[in-house]
Amino acid sequence: MTNGKSIRKVRKAVFPVAGLGTRFLPATKAIPKELLPILDRPVLQWAVEEAREAGIEEFIFVTARGKEAIADHFDAFPALEETLAAKGKDALLQVVRQATIEAGKAIYVRQDAPRGLGHAVACAREAVGNEPFALLLPDMLMFDEPGCMAGMMAHYEEVGGNIIAVEEVPREEVHRYGVVALDPDARDVMRITGMVEKPSVDEAPSTLIISGRYILQPEIFAHLDETAPGAGGEIQITDAMQRGIEAGEPYFAWHYTGQTWDCGSKLGFLLANVAFGLRDKETADALRAYVNTHCRDES
Ligand code: G1P
Repeated sequence: MTNGKSIRKVRKAVFPVAGLGTRFLPATKAIPKELLPILDRPVLQWAVEEAREAGIEEFIFVTARGKEAIADHFDAFPALEETLAAKGKDALLQVVRQATIEAGKAIYVRQDAPRGLGHAVACAREAVGNEPFALLLPDMLMFDEPGCMAGMMAHYEEVGGNIIAVEEVPREEVHRYGVVALDPDARDVMRITGMVEKPSVDEAPSTLIISGRYILQPEIFAHLDETAPGAGGEIQITDAMQRGIEAGEPYFAWHYTGQTWDCGSKLGFLLANVAFGLRDKETADALRAYVNTHCRDES
C-alpha cells in the first residue's frame, strides 16, 4: 500500500520504435535501426527480454511507416520451427522461440509524425488504458543481473507511484539527457522533486540522468495532453513527468548501477557488440585475442 492506494500490477510495456535511425544511414534505409543486431539478436529484442524477465505480459510498439519488419521479427514462424525441429536443431529452435511474442500479446500503434518521445508515448494511450505501464527506450541497452526493469519492478511493488531509472554521468554529459533533482530530506526513498530535459551544464540540478527505463501511472497521459513542445521543439516525456511532480504525484528514482550502452550512436553500438561478444562463449576467446593484438594503445 502507498498513499492509501493499493499498488496496481504492471502488465504492459511500451517501446517507442518510430525513430528514423538517420545516424545509421545507409544501413537503416530498408532495415529499422531497432533490428540492427547486438551479437545475435536485434537491439530491440534485448529490451523485450528485459521486460519479459520483469513480468511484462503485453508489448506495445509505437512504430511508423517502414518499420513493418519489427512485427515480422516477433511473429511466430511455424515453417522455420518445423524445419529446425525436423533437423534436430533444438538449440536454434529455442533461440527462434525466444524471439517470438505470443499471439495477441504484441500491439503495434503508429506515430504519424516524429513529434518527440512524449508524443510517441501519447500514441500508446488507448493500448495502455487506465493502468500503470513500463516504458523502455530500446536504444539504451542495459545489462545487469537481474535486469534493470526487474529491479525497478521489485522496488515498485514496495513503494508504488512512478519509478525512473537514473544513472550517474560526468557533468559535461548531462546536456544529452533528462536530469533529475532529488529531495535532500528524503534521500533514503530517492524522491524526485523535479526534472529537466537536456539542461545546460549550469542548469542541471544534479548529475543523475534519466537512463531510459520508466514505470509510469496512467495520469501521465493527461499531463502529455497539456505539454507543449520543449527541448528540440519536441513533446518531451520529461516535461509531462515534471507536470506530474508539480501536481504532487509521487516520483521515485531507482539508481541503476549495471552497464548501459547508447546503441543509437555508432560508438555505443560498437561497444555493446564488443561487450556482448566478450560474454559469449562462442566468440569470447577469439575476440579477446583480437582486441589484445590490434587495440593496444601505442601512444
Ligand atoms: C530520451 C529522454 C531523456 C533520457 C534519454 C535516455 O532522450 O528524453 O530524458 O535521458 O532518452 O537515452 P533522447 O535520447 O531521445 O534524446
